[in-house]
Amino acid sequence: MQQLQQLIREAQSFYQEGRVATYIPALSSVDPKLLAVSLIDGNGSAFQEGDYQQFFTLQSISKVISFIFVCETYGVEHVLQYVDVEPTGDPFNSIIRLESHQPGKPFNPMINAGAITISSMLPGVEVDDKISNLQNFIKKMIGAQCEVCEEVFTSEWETAYRNRAIAYYLKANGYLQGDVEITLEAYLKQCALLVDVKQLATIALVIANDGYHPLSKERIFDAKIAKMAKALMLTCGMYNASGKFAAFVGMPAKSGVSGGILCVAMDAKIEELQGTIGIGIFGPAIDAVGNSVAGMKFLEELSKRYQLSIF
Ligand code: DON
Repeated sequence: MQQLQQLIREAQSFYQEGRVATYIPALSSVDPKLLAVSLIDGNGSAFQEGDYQQFFTLQSISKVISFIFVCETYGVEHVLQYVDVEPTGDPFNSIIRLESHQPGKPFNPMINAGAITISSMLPGVEVDDKISNLQNFIKKMIGAQCEVCEEVFTSEWETAYRNRAIAYYLKANGYLQGDVEITLEAYLKQCALLVDVKQLATIALVIANDGYHPLSKERIFDAKIAKMAKALMLTCGMYNASGKFAAFVGMPAKSGVSGGILCVAMDAKIEELQGTIGIGIFGPAIDAVGNSVAGMKFLEELSKRYQLSIF
């Protein structure tokens, strides 16, 4: 695994080109130099390196999980009545197209507007029910309960002016079901769920295997939903850098402003690992778009070295 270790070492120095997220106050105190990587294949062979014991919040990575869960609960056709599957090319928290593109339906579930719509559809009426249902769904994949980081949640809740504006706008247009404040709390709590890179890689592994968990040998969600999630990750998962990421890396991935990236490698052979491989990364220094700088550098070099682009 020496080659992987070298790639990580080289990628780590790129943290200097990014900064930790400051618009969520509790994220601003994290060490920007951290970098952790985990890879896991369908036989359970795994590789972990760097600061892999570090826990971090899912942030926008939760969007792909909540989308899958809501689709599995209500069916894709129903969910797509409330959110589209088109990339925007806009920042993740942008409001502009909600009004300019009628009838105000959010473009995709990977931007905040679409993800808030999806959070309103999480099964359950109260916040606790919505979150514990999501936690149970995640537990089927990682075998553990991921907890809400109350500090990150509170810090974001108190400063969520933009997300609050988006949520009320969605409600006014019929794209938010139920109560706005309950939805917003559920959305911010799902963003504040804590994971480590191994858990992220395991979730990626299940998505890579079209909803089948190769380690527990259970089907967690429908293959049709997994395919849609991967298409969304490829076209919208890295926000307004998704085009460049597809061009230079070429793997479905989803990032979060905490510096996490969940990525899937199909038909891969990376040293001792092979087949579909789940990848989890944590590198908290992010670029202006919101993606981990060292994490993206690592994936770019990994893709080149092992020819992982799906194109
Ligand atoms: O709603 C927000 O702004 C955050 N909870 C999540 C945003 C995020 O992770 C965007 N990622 N790159």
